[in-house]
Amino acid sequence: MSSATFAFAPGLPPPAVRWNGRVKFDFTGGNNDPDRVPVDGLIAAAESVLKREGRMLAIYGVNQGPQGYRPLREFLAGKLKADAGIACIADDILLTSGSNPALDLINGALLARGDTVIIEEDCYQGTINRLTRIGVNIVGMPLDKDGMRMDALSNALETLKAKAVKPKFIYTIPTVQNPTATILPVARRQEMLRLSAAHGVPIVEDDCYADLTWSGQRPPAIYAMSEHGGVIHVGSFSKSIAPALRVGYLVAPWEVMSRALALKTDAGSGALEQMVLAEFCTRNFSKHVPDLRRGLRAKLETLMESLREHFGSTVEFSDTQGGIFLWVKLPDSVDTMKLYERALAAGVCINPGPQWSVNKERARSRLRLCFASATHEEINQGVATLAEVCRREFGVASA
Ligand SMILES: Cc1ncc(COP(=O)(O)O)c(C=O)c1O
Repeated sequence: MSSATFAFAPGLPPPAVRWNGRVKFDFTGGNNDPDRVPVDGLIAAAESVLKREGRMLAIYGVNQGPQGYRPLREFLAGKLKADAGIACIADDILLTSGSNPALDLINGALLARGDTVIIEEDCYQGTINRLTRIGVNIVGMPLDKDGMRMDALSNALETLKAKAVKPKFIYTIPTVQNPTATILPVARRQEMLRLSAAHGVPIVEDDCYADLTWSGQRPPAIYAMSEHGGVIHVGSFSKSIAPALRVGYLVAPWEVMSRALALKTDAGSGALEQMVLAEFCTRNFSKHVPDLRRGLRAKLETLMESLREHFGSTVEFSDTQGGIFLWVKLPDSVDTMKLYERALAAGVCINPGPQWSVNKERARSRLRLCFASATHEEINQGVATLAEVCRREFGVASA
């Protein structure tokens, strides 16, 4: 008797590998600091909101429509106005299960195979992979210490125009960029908006690290600065509270929102997380975030010191303006895709540069280190081990 076999759909991404547990020294992912998750506050928030409104979990969307738990959207409208200058109301906000699904909805509403999208050359891997999978032509813009270079954007838009190509949008992470941790200054935001209007190309602003600037200040959101619309704003609680909660959002005009809602097929993102966050954040967000920032900054100091101690002048990096990542350059002899395998065998996990860039050759000897989730001790030991692997496998001189 023949057995039934699964015939998988064409065009799938490569199958996932099984998770083998976290390694000892993990510098990967966009994880947060376990010691800075406000556990007691979340327990108190969960108890009070469930006692008050728990019965409403019986109704899809807790009886508040498809855009998500209204008190959290109201909290966000107030926070976005105060911090980012965005004048929006709860009805302009859609809560999603993290910001990744928000990006999927935007891509789903706007993109088709063969379209062109402009992004920062070094960029969030999740975005590069999504666009690649859709079959989009990705055009990468170089960055400097102030983020995406506007001369390059201007040239790229002109070059594409000469070929009769109109990009679908410019995707940018302007406030603490991933992986370079740069912040796009106001003048460049203005210039991006000018170019966007001149070429009729909208902007998708991914702002998930914007709460984590060391100064506590941030420039106004591009969404806020636009006088003619044409911008979608995406954010998340993953970096400011906890990524495992899975709560993100998009802010968009109704013409986009209505398309995103029509594409959202999950019958509502988890309401319990949204309720707990609303309860917690309205009372505690403005106190919690500065504590988190201070803790992250201290870990970055440890990482930078440790890199100097163990790699000396063979390593290049710049102090950052916020966030949870350091983008590091090793000597040209180091291929970080190979380093990834060899470091893993020694118990250290890194993100190799080529996975976080569309300029694979330039990123070959670069890597991204997340310093948020490891302890200070683990950062020191992990960097020492990484330096030893670089010396042994790639001949990088000891400090
Ligand atoms: C730039 C950027 N956008 C979006 C995300 C997705 O985050 P989440 O889905 O947890 O909100 C990440 C995660 O690291 C990110 O770095």
